[in-house]
Amino acid sequence: MSGIRAVPAGIGSYLPERVLTNDDLAKTVDTTHEWIVERTGIHRRHIAAQGETTADLAFHAVERALAAAGMTVDEIDMIVVATATPDQTFPSTATRIQHRIGMAHGFAFDVQAVCSGFLYALTVATQFIETGKARAAIVIGAETFSRILDWTDRATCVLFGDGAGALILKGETGTGRNTDRGVLSTELRSDGAHNASLYVDGGPSTTGIAGHLRMNGREVFKHAVRNLAEIGEAALTTAGLTPSDVRWVVPHQANARIISSTAQKIGVEMDRVIVTVQDHANTSAASIPLALDVAVRDGRIRTGDLLLLEAMGGGFTWGGAAVRW
Ligand code: ACO
Repeated sequence: MSGIRAVPAGIGSYLPERVLTNDDLAKTVDTTHEWIVERTGIHRRHIAAQGETTADLAFHAVERALAAAGMTVDEIDMIVVATATPDQTFPSTATRIQHRIGMAHGFAFDVQAVCSGFLYALTVATQFIETGKARAAIVIGAETFSRILDWTDRATCVLFGDGAGALILKGETGTGRNTDRGVLSTELRSDGAHNASLYVDGGPSTTGIAGHLRMNGREVFKHAVRNLAEIGEAALTTAGLTPSDVRWVVPHQANARIISSTAQKIGVEMDRVIVTVQDHANTSAASIPLALDVAVRDGRIRTGDLLLLEAMGGGFTWGGAAVRW
């Protein structure tokens, strides 16, 4: 059945200037470059400058995405920002970005699903486009996790970085078949029983301050591979596709071992997986659009390629999407 598809029109990303290497971290906490690389695959991460906020990073990413799409803000009806590190408790980071890009029409809001946030935002925007409620949407993942890390806790502070990515989705009439360009399927899951495995020990309604990230790394690892493989397979099945149809897996970039174990479980070789965790570390909701941007700009991802996106984060939340670029 033909209908409107949410089709990728342009992608952009932004990383703050300052690079923090593993050796830099080894000067402040008891760790080594070798330990971090062996357990996580991370070599370096970018850290926002003092006064540089999540909305600032997102603004640059959006400018680049609009330029890549050859579109102006007049053509955009909605902005969805996935972030767990908003500039303020309210208003939303999305409305700050909306104002900054000179958009005085449409609507903008944030979604919160931590590291799966980009897939939640993508799913929401896709629904609005497919029902004709929005002609085009900017889907943003943007984070400044450096602001919620306990920089004395070596088990967590080595894992994360800051950054932003923005994807523009545009409504186009499709045939309804899975050969169409656009978002072909999305699958979302959550299970609040795992709140204590990965959380921030503060918030407006509890401590009144932002708090710091706390994690049971082993517990997260255990669930990650199983959940990510399950949701990836579900997204493909819903779209009537199989792993052999996938040109590129673009996973959430938390840990190289989670990425490779999940790819193996799904049945996709690592030469069909986009990996940026070595350079970006875990940028939470920003990691998938950052990885997409890298691979589109270096020519690996091309028009018509079938992408499988998958992510898991605090909650737990997890999500998958099959997208034909
Ligand atoms: N440097 C050196 N040693 C360290 C460090 C460090 N940075 N961090 C922890 N250690 C030590 C621990 O203290 C422990 O020492 P001990 O044996 O003397 O007690 C030892 O290393 C082993 O600690 P574990 O936590 O058991 O190490 P593990 O092999 O599980 O690796 C890691 C830890 C990398 C966090 C792993 O559990 C992991 O990747 N988990 C997934 C977490 C994740 O990716 N979270 C991101 C958010 S969720 C998501 O995005 C999917």
